Amino acid sequence: MIRAAFTPSLITGDPFVDGQHRHLISKINALLDAKDADTALKTLDFLIAYTGYHFAMEEQIMEENQYPQLAAHKEVHAQLVEDVKKLRDLLQAEGPTENFMNQINNKVTDWLYNHIKGDDQAFAEYKNIRQGAQCGMDNML
Ligand SMILES: [Fe+2]
Ligand SMILES: [Fe+2]
Repeated sequence: MIRAAFTPSLITGDPFVDGQHRHLISKINALLDAKDADTALKTLDFLIAYTGYHFAMEEQIMEENQYPQLAAHKEVHAQLVEDVKKLRDLLQAEGPTENFMNQINNKVTDWLYNHIKGDDQAFAEYKNIRQGAQCGMDNML
């Protein structure tokens, strides 16, 4: 099974966010390595809980920074949560089959790569510009 990997192209520059993304990727790998239904389900449930924790943290930082795209970003997070719920049903129905693992790669790993490189990095850029602007204003006072 192809393993997920954290590459430099996924770095946002926020050490907390980057650390959580690394952890998400290592948990996806643990799921891809699961050999039996019980281990797979426990690993997926941990991944679901950790994803919820990560999304909540990101959304909180966005709120603190008055991010104009917050609502849209929340929608995208919520859609992934829905998709993963369906994958949990699939795992319960057929166990850790090749079909299930392929769907994890297609719907979770690829989603995460695209989401980090698109939406999460867009926010990181916004936050850097905003904080830079605030520093500039402080200097003028
Ligand atoms: Fe993220
Ligand atoms: Fe995100």
